[in-house]
Amino acid sequence: MKSYRVAVLGASGYTGGELLRILAVHPGVEVVYASSREYAGLPVYYAHPHLRGFYRLKLSRLTLDSVLRGEPDTVFAALPHGVGLEFTARLYEAGIRVVDLSADYRLKTPESYKQWYGFEHPYPDLLAKAVYGLPELHREELRGARLIAAPGCNATAVILSVAPLVAKRLIDDKLIIADVKASSSEAGSKPSRWSHHPEREGDIRPYSASGHRHAAEAEQELARLARGEVRVSLVPHAVPAIRGVLASTHTILAGGVEEADVARAYAEFYRGEPFVRVVHGKPVPWPSTRNVLGSNIAEVGYALEARLGRATGFAAIDNLVRGAAGQAVQAFNISAGFPETTGLLLPPLHP
Ligand SMILES: NC(=O)c1ccc[n+]([C@@H]2O[C@H](COP(=O)([O-])OP(=O)(O)OC[C@H]3O[C@@H](n4cnc5c(N)ncnc54)[C@H](OP(=O)(O)O)[C@@H]3O)[C@@H](O)[C@H]2O)c1
Repeated sequence: MKSYRVAVLGASGYTGGELLRILAVHPGVEVVYASSREYAGLPVYYAHPHLRGFYRLKLSRLTLDSVLRGEPDTVFAALPHGVGLEFTARLYEAGIRVVDLSADYRLKTPESYKQWYGFEHPYPDLLAKAVYGLPELHREELRGARLIAAPGCNATAVILSVAPLVAKRLIDDKLIIADVKASSSEAGSKPSRWSHHPEREGDIRPYSASGHRHAAEAEQELARLARGEVRVSLVPHAVPAIRGVLASTHTILAGGVEEADVARAYAEFYRGEPFVRVVHGKPVPWPSTRNVLGSNIAEVGYALEARLGRATGFAAIDNLVRGAAGQAVQAFNISAGFPETTGLLLPPLHP
């Protein structure tokens, strides 16, 4: 198996730590560089004590020269939005494969960045080249891809929850309403006053309740599946959990659609997918974050209310694995020609 030399930018954060945890046992990868300002010059385990013994590497202050000195074939960028744009663009232009976990390359047009993120994207030509790294939707484009935009965690859950309904044209997709329950690790490792876990423990509350940015990704990707316009309203709620996202996405069924059509749509759309489990029936009737934590598995399912002609699609994921590092490694595997599941076949934790 060819060994890839990999750099992780933003390695001291939560998604950077998950990348290091997964890549530590990936047989086709050697991590040659990892960045952090706070822990620069210190061993990886100073930032991630749970990884003591897995790496000899020291963390480096992020500069373009220091990354290039490591001679990576592939860079995973786990930096805040905007912070890594210049680095990733220049690394891509230097011929290196870039897997970006931020939102910097997820949207396809510069106009969408202006609308949703409020800035002029400095590399519009790269937006056209980037592949949205959701394997179930973009597997063929990911083969050989050199610029991969790893999807947002809430967007991943919303898209997976209703993709079969949209693709098979079983719903009225003029307005899809996604209710998302999000855990505290979504906010990253540097706490702000109201995202800090002590403020969230015992509390459930909406945030970014209108215009959440992940709605833009969900609309973009579901519209592609529908081959037409799709509108998504996405309202996240902060729940007192450390990991996990659950999307409950409400839709109105098209006329004449029955439960058997919906069941067939989910079964067919996800047939053969190594990291999707369609959950319906016994012993647990619907997806649950508890049953996927620590893994790259997405549980999806549905519920129908015939009286109202309504269907709800569900998806439960671990935001740091399927919603970030695991999905990024899955996309990397496809792009680099590894078996897709390489390094990712860990079952979820329980209890
Ligand atoms: N958390 C999630 O569930 C999740 C899911 C999907 C995608 N994402 C995306 O993944 C990215 C990282 O998220 P995270 O949750 O891992 O955040 P995080 O825990 O705050 O980590 C951010 C990392 O970036 C580094 N960093 C921050 N500002 C920097 C700067 N100006 N220059 C250089 N390095 C800088 C930090 O290290 P130092 O401060 O030590 O330099 C740290 O290593 C974000 O774009 C986020 O939206 C997160």
